Amino acid sequence: MAIATVPLSLERDVLAVFAEVTRYPLEILDPEANLEEDLGIDSVKLGEVFSVLRERHDLPQHMGLTPENLKNIRLISIALEQHLSERNGRNGHHQATTTPDPAPITATVDAAITQDAVPDDLLPGIQAVFAEVTRYPVEILDPKAQLEEDLGIDSVKLGEVFSVIREKYKLSDTLVVDPERLKTIAGIADAVSQVTVRTTVRTSLQPSAIAETNGHKTPNGLPGISAMPRAKRQFEGKVAFVSGSGRALGKDIAVYLAELGATVIVNSFHSRNQGDETVAQIKAAGGSALHAWGSVANPEHLDNIFNTIEAEFGALDFFISNASNGMLARLDQITPEHWEKAFRTNVVGLHQSALRAVNLMKKRGGGKIVTLSSPASHGYVDYFGCMGTVKAAVESLTKSMAIEFAPYNIQVNCVSPGPIYGELLNKWPESKRLIAEWEDATVTGRLCESRDVSHFVAYLLGDEVKLFTGSVLVMDGGISVRWG
Ligand SMILES: NC(=O)c1ccc[n+]([C@@H]2O[C@H](COP(=O)([O-])OP(=O)(O)OC[C@H]3O[C@@H](n4cnc5c(N)ncnc54)[C@H](OP(=O)(O)O)[C@@H]3O)[C@@H](O)[C@H]2O)c1
Repeated sequence: MAIATVPLSLERDVLAVFAEVTRYPLEILDPEANLEEDLGIDSVKLGEVFSVLRERHDLPQHMGLTPENLKNIRLISIALEQHLSERNGRNGHHQATTTPDPAPITATVDAAITQDAVPDDLLPGIQAVFAEVTRYPVEILDPKAQLEEDLGIDSVKLGEVFSVIREKYKLSDTLVVDPERLKTIAGIADAVSQVTVRTTVRTSLQPSAIAETNGHKTPNGLPGISAMPRAKRQFEGKVAFVSGSGRALGKDIAVYLAELGATVIVNSFHSRNQGDETVAQIKAAGGSALHAWGSVANPEHLDNIFNTIEAEFGALDFFISNASNGMLARLDQITPEHWEKAFRTNVVGLHQSALRAVNLMKKRGGGKIVTLSSPASHGYVDYFGCMGTVKAAVESLTKSMAIEFAPYNIQVNCVSPGPIYGELLNKWPESKRLIAEWEDATVTGRLCESRDVSHFVAYLLGDEVKLFTGSVLVMDGGISVRWG
């Protein structure tokens, strides 16, 4: 069996590197767990792991690894072992090499690119951007590989890649790219070579300004929870679980509820460090928080999370179902796997979390659940065909839960914000064009900020909100009214 060929010490070493980079406790790092689905270790973190492994074992840049080799720690250890023994066989002893494997990227490029229009140096340049953003070893960035299916590069990362490409090739405004070409690196290189640049003068917020308007920090960078008047800490004594709250909107909701006195269970999956940091930020500001790592799409992880909540706090008052994952792309790019991931995270994750939350809320004699949807679940928004459909299911499930959980004195409502300035929006394909369109469609010329949504979530959690249940509350500055 292949497993037997991995010397334990090597696998232990690889495990130690994973633990060091991800800051996961070793006991979480099951060598056979799927890196992305079970452990939330994405391509960026995998790239960091490989930098350390390269340094530690004098590995070349190009080891000829495939996505199959990178699925779990055991397979990586086996590939590493094979590489090291081949090298030792060649050299007669373990010899370090700092010379990159002369894998001929240009030759790969020539074979992969059929369009004569692509300048010779463009594909390696685009590949280099992908490597820089994803931190994938260059050798797995096969220009013909499907970005999402073969390489696990999702629309969010593709958005980051495009920001760098725009910068690097001085593409000043919106790239108009045929979706077919967005599927592979070769296609993108081809598209960039024939790019149409649309220059639109906008008075809207630029990304730097957007960043400045997010966060709502005090001058020292921390919200002053302990400095807040006691009367304002309306949720003192309440325990809130906010899924997906290490970063972005979920983080702001968690921080705000903590500012209002709640003890918050912060949950992260792919961004474990950010979960730790959010908890540290809340605590440093005098609030109370606990980090519970795990995927809402994984029932075993949910068991661990809710067992922890029960062990630490005995019960639960609020559950905010914020976690979301899914592909932002036109429908012709959406695969069954994209549906599966989006549905599992947003809908099955909500259902499974809510059942566990209800058990803990019963101990309090009631509670409140808030789900997150989007007005785009009832209309067309570019690149949101899959997610809009899935969010429609979230709204439907919200209504069923409102009725079925009512006997336990649990209210369930859904907040449906329009586009929110922040991480996700900045990574949206064609974000500049779309943000501008969305801003134009609001009555104020401005989109939501995270804190607008957090205020609304907190309002729904308040004692004074008694008769609300099964409602979907849209807050999008009038976009959906204008667009019908
Ligand atoms: N941004 C908008 O414009 C907008 C508009 C309307 C509605 N919403 C909704 O508001 C919510 C938050 O949006 P956002 O903009 O903050 O989205 P985001 O930037 O994509 O963040 C998603 C959050 O979900 C977490 N997550 C992803 N997969 C997870 C999993 N399997 N288990 C646990 N957590 C997981 C992520 O944390 P990790 O990285 O740790 O996994 C992250 O904290 C979502 O439900 C979204 O649909 C957003």
